[in-house]
Amino acid sequence: MIHGGKRLVGNVDISGAKNAALAIIPATLLAKGLCRVENIPDIRDVRLMMDIIRHLGASVRRLNTNTYEIDTTSITSHTVPDAMARKMRASYYFIGALLGRSGRAEVAMPGGCNFGVRPIDQHIKGFEALGARVKTENAVITASSRELLGGSVYFDLVSVGATINVMLAAVRAKGMTIIENAAKEPHIVDLANFLNLMGADVRGAGTDVIKIRGVESMHGCDYSIIPDQIEAGTYMVAAAATGGDVWVRNVIPKHLDSISAKLVESGIDVEEYDDSVHVIAHGRPLKCNIKTMPHPGFPTDMQPQFAAMLAIAEGTSIISEGIWDNRFRYVEQLLRMGASIQVEGKAAIIEGVPFLKGAPVRADDLRAGAAMVIAGLVARGTTTIEDIHLIERGYENILGKLTALGADISRIQDEDDDPNRVIPMVSSL
Ligand code: EPU
Repeated sequence: MIHGGKRLVGNVDISGAKNAALAIIPATLLAKGLCRVENIPDIRDVRLMMDIIRHLGASVRRLNTNTYEIDTTSITSHTVPDAMARKMRASYYFIGALLGRSGRAEVAMPGGCNFGVRPIDQHIKGFEALGARVKTENAVITASSRELLGGSVYFDLVSVGATINVMLAAVRAKGMTIIENAAKEPHIVDLANFLNLMGADVRGAGTDVIKIRGVESMHGCDYSIIPDQIEAGTYMVAAAATGGDVWVRNVIPKHLDSISAKLVESGIDVEEYDDSVHVIAHGRPLKCNIKTMPHPGFPTDMQPQFAAMLAIAEGTSIISEGIWDNRFRYVEQLLRMGASIQVEGKAAIIEGVPFLKGAPVRADDLRAGAAMVIAGLVARGTTTIEDIHLIERGYENILGKLTALGADISRIQDEDDDPNRVIPMVSSL
């Protein structure tokens, strides 16, 4: 429940990147030895990922809120069952990681946010380029190979997931793999850095050609995950929408360039420092047009949050969605709060209104839920948001962080959601 109308003021510390952690946890399967990974966000998707890797036989120790030790030396299984896989999209990284480790993976079809059809043809194209046989039967993907051999793959479109999955499969394949038209997101680079620290030879991550020379074996390492670009962007927009003044700390400002540029266009001041950005808003934001694109373009995962802000901006804005077929489902919820938005195919035309009114709404997915939180913060009156477990898939301690910035937000009903349970820490650190 949010009582809106409070300016956000103060400091917020950004957690580790969800989408980097979700690639790095399965990547530990590629090494024999102990990986100690810091700055893992304390979110529901990470807990699900830890459940899967434990199910495969890994030993997982939680040293403190955000640090884990994962030892995959004695993996006993190469199968991720349906009940686990369908809870999240990133479960399909176990195909690449298990294939890379042992030449054999059996993973049920992944779930995840519903943005329309989410095909995996490019992942399969990549695995096949390395010589794997891949078949999908009864919603289970089976990939196998007696010996993976390096190969060339040119993706038909830029896919974060396919780039990561092929990297995972290729690092221990025999010979050189070349991935062309690769995704360039910061978490692709983070994964490459992690793999290289474990002894892999991955070059070019962050450009559209990645070259991977297969190595015979890999070893454990200590690593710290980069800050979450989208969590940072979400707090920046929340600050901007509420007319606030917020220091967003523990970030890599370069990763926020496309987000900062759009805020500046909306009349918000964004000052960059070494590892923080200071966001200062002066009254209502101004309209701006946005088109989502692969990195370094404007991220689709920030699109709903900007829509919530632009709903109260001066003037009419147009948002065009360039990645997903169906990412405007949340607009219906904003309309309940008095927004004036028309969706036409993959574009939304947002006519700014002076204010939103609190209403009961629902989180349709993770980022749509974040947009509802922002809308609730700016709205007059009380907003209640249902299905907040979807928000907790990707935002660590969102209630605590917003409360510290002066928001009036509280949980009024616990959801009976197993993955929200606390993973106990060991007392050794
Ligand atoms: N696509 C295909 N074939 C494929 C793979 C993708 O046609 O084999 C299409 C998709 O349908 C989509 C486009 O390619 O139209 C891009 O999809 P991509 O594979 O890049 O997305 P993803 O890997 O499934 C990740 C993030 C999403 C984020 C997208 C785009 C993770 C776990 N998920 O998804 O994050 O929206 O990249 O940046 O990394 C989120 O964090 O809220 C989230 C949904």
